[in-house]
Order: sequence, then structure tokens, then C-alpha cells
Amino acid sequence: MALDPFVAADFVRNAAPGFTPRVGLVLGSGLGGLADKIDVVSSIDFTDIPEFPQSTVEGHAGRLVLGRLGGMPVVCMQGRIHLYEGIDPQDLAVPVRVLKLLGIEILIVTNAAGSFHEDVGPGRLMLLSDHINLTSRNPLVGENDERFGPRFFSMEEAYDPILREHFKAVAKELEIDLAEGVYLHYLGPNFETPAEIRAFKTLGADAVGMSTTPEVLVARHCGLRVAAISNITNLVAGLSKTKLSHEQTLECAQLAAEDLEKLMIIFLETLKRELLKSHIREDANGNNQ
Ligand code: HPA
Repeated sequence: MALDPFVAADFVRNAAPGFTPRVGLVLGSGLGGLADKIDVVSSIDFTDIPEFPQSTVEGHAGRLVLGRLGGMPVVCMQGRIHLYEGIDPQDLAVPVRVLKLLGIEILIVTNAAGSFHEDVGPGRLMLLSDHINLTSRNPLVGENDERFGPRFFSMEEAYDPILREHFKAVAKELEIDLAEGVYLHYLGPNFETPAEIRAFKTLGADAVGMSTTPEVLVARHCGLRVAAISNITNLVAGLSKTKLSHEQTLECAQLAAEDLEKLMIIFLETLKRELLKSHIREDANGNNQ
């Protein structure tokens, strides 16, 4: 039996009565520290949430944190579940659907990734412009749940152009050198072979990692606006002498963690101002908030 996001969402709602998050955040490997900056309303272990898939990877705390970040009401997944853990892909639809049911309109996804560009090395951030899902898996395969979205939907501009411009403007203001590129999702759990990397380069990848596309597919299906940022922890296999391991990923994720925290907080602060302004405009047009 598939997991039921409605049951999970009811449980979370009861843990934070009256609190409606507007933005969802997914924090990738070694990036859980951003959750510590949240002015917490409620924090719930994934293991306590009924009908919620469970993560098994070290460095992924597995907690849902609700509260305010940069003044914005957010719900944050501190840790995520990956396809390579062997989970039924359909169950991977649950976390994002729970966030949608809680009230979010925007999903911001982060991950750790290897870079194909020598001039965009460890410690840099890359804004995703698009993705290539090379896993042959998709949480939306199977009977379509019409309560969330249509059977067929477009993935053009999946990474919201306005949110991307907004991230770029904030990065410029903070003097953070934000790269931009295409993320390729490799199933893992092994890192890629150098031959695979050469092949992926010809496909148009700028970064490679083992997450993100399931969440983005589910989010776009249910009409959420999406942005995603890779924390570059290494150059891809064959491009540097560093031996890739999960420890190396976690260690190097710290290099850009501070930049990512600043970027995210100021992004949310300014987004909140924009949202407030658009509400005022709506009022001026005679609509109720
Ligand atoms: N490949 C896949 N996943 C990753 C990498 C990589 O080089 N770096 C961090 N996560």
C-alpha cells in the first residue's frame, strides 16, 4: 500500500496548530545547519510522522522543522530520502506532497554535487537552470493522483525564472559568486566512473548528484514554484585527484555552507517583502487576501 500524504500532513498540522508555511526547503548533505537558523515553531523527527518515508543516510538528520527564516514562515526538511536507498519511487512523492498540503507555494531544494567545470570547484554554489533525470525512475509513475495534478504536465521552466533572477540579484548584493547550470541526477550510491562523466558532459551536464529530481518532479506536478541550488563539494570523477567519498562530501559541504545560509536568509527576507507588496496590490484591485 502506498503511503498517504494526507495522514502525514494532518499529523504535522496538529504539531504546529495555526502555523502555515509559505516556503518549503529541502536541505541536502551537510547543509542541515541552515535549519539551526530557524526560529522554530515545531520540530518533528521523520520517524514520528505516520505515513512518511524514512531516511537511512548519515548526515541527513531526518527532521521536519517548522518556523520562521528571514521572517518567512517555512517548513524545512532537514535531510531527505534518496532513490538509491531502495525506496519505492512512489513513496518519494510523499514528503513534497505533505509540504504542499501544509500550504507552501514555493519549494527550494539544495543538494551536494560534483562540478564539471574546473573554474567552479568545491566551495562554490550553483543555481540550477534545468535538470537531466538519468535514473530511469520517477515518483509519478503509476496511477495519477488527480488531487495533486494532471497526468501529463510540462517541465519547461521547471526552475522558476523569476525565482532564479531573484537568487542572482541577492547573490550579487552579497558578493557571492553564484554559478548557474544543468544538474544531472545519477542514481548512485556509487560515484560515477570517469567514462560516465565523459558521457554526461556530452549530454550537457554542469553538475552531478544523487538527489533532487524526484522532489522537483513532484513539486511541479502539484504546481509549486521551484528553485534549487547545488553546493559544489568536488570536481567530478577524473577531473581532480581527490578521492570521492561521503566523508569528503560532508567535509567540503561546509566550505559553502555559510554562503548558502546567507543567500537563503536574505532571499527569503526580500521574497517576503515582495509577497507582501503583491498582497497589497491584490487589495488595491479589490480582492481579499
Ligand atoms: N557525484 C555524485 N554525487 C555527488 C557528487 C559527485 O561527484 N558530489 C557530491 N554528491
